[in-house]
Amino acid sequence: MDRPIVLVTGAGGALGSAVRERLTRDGARLALLARRAPAGEAGGPAADGAAEPAPWAAAVDLLDEAAVTDAIDRAETELGPVRAALLLAGGFATAPAAETDLGALRQQLDVNLATAASVVRALLPRMTERGEGTIVGIAAGQARRGGSGAAAYAASKAALAAYLRAVDEESASRGVRTVTVFPMGTLDTPANRQAMPKADPARWIDPARLAEVLAFAVRIGPRARLREIEVHPDA
Ligand SMILES: NC(=O)c1ccc[n+]([C@@H]2O[C@H](COP(=O)([O-])OP(=O)(O)OC[C@H]3O[C@@H](n4cnc5c(N)ncnc54)[C@H](OP(=O)(O)O)[C@@H]3O)[C@@H](O)[C@H]2O)c1
Repeated sequence: MDRPIVLVTGAGGALGSAVRERLTRDGARLALLARRAPAGEAGGPAADGAAEPAPWAAAVDLLDEAAVTDAIDRAETELGPVRAALLLAGGFATAPAAETDLGALRQQLDVNLATAASVVRALLPRMTERGEGTIVGIAAGQARRGGSGAAAYAASKAALAAYLRAVDEESASRGVRTVTVFPMGTLDTPANRQAMPKADPARWIDPARLAEVLAFAVRIGPRARLREIEVHPDA
C-alpha cells in the first residue's frame, strides 16, 4: 500500500490533533513538527487494521529557519520524501487597530505567515525537483472579509493566502499544488470553549470535519486539484 509521508506543523494544537487522527486513519505516515515534540500517541488503527507506530516527530520553533531545514532533512532521511505538508501552525490575537502597534502586527505576521514560509522555503525545492507535492495552508474568514478587533490577525492571514497563491503560481507547472483553506468561522476547540463560555459551539466548525477537508485536499488528483476552499459552520 502506498503510504504518503505528510508533514504537519502545529501538530500539538487543537486542529493538529484532529488532523493527526484523520491522516493516520487514511494510512499516511506522519512527520510532526511542533514547538514541543508531541507525545507519539497519534495512534488509532492504521488503514489496514494494524496498530500504528508512534509518528515521527521533531520539536522545532518554526521561526528558526536552520532548525526547520534540519528537521525536514532528518524527516526525509528517516522516512522518505515528504509528499504533502499541512501548515497548521498559527495564532490569534485581538486588539482594535488603533491599539495595534508594529510589534503586535509583526508578531501576527510571524506566527501566521513566517511559520508557514519557513517550511515552504525548505520543502519547495525538494518538491519541485521531484515534480510532486502538495502544500496546504490554513487562513481564516478574516482574511476574506476583515475582522473588527482583529486587524493584525486578518492582515496576517490575508498575507498568508497571498503568499500561498504566489507559491502556487511559481510551482504548479512543476507538479506542486498549493491549497489555501479558509475556515469561515470559529473552530470548536477547548480553547474557544474556554474563551467563549456563553457561545453555542454547535454554531462552530467541527475540527474533525475540517480535518477531513484537509485530508481530501492532500488526496485529490491526479488531473484535478483544489486551490482555495472555504469551510463554513453548518448552523
Ligand atoms: N481556532 C479557530 O477558531 C481558528 C479559526 C480559523 C483559523 N484557525 C487557524 O487554524 C490553525 C489551527 O488552529 P488551532 O485552534 O488548532 O490553534 P492552536 O491550538 O493554537 O495550535 C496552533 C499551533 O501552532 C503552534 N505554533 C505557533 N507558532 C509556532 C512556532 N513558532 N513554532 C512551532 N509551533 C508554533 C502552536 O504551538 P504552541 O502551543 O507551542 O504555541 C500550536 O501548537 C491556526 O493556523 C489558526 O490560526 C483557527
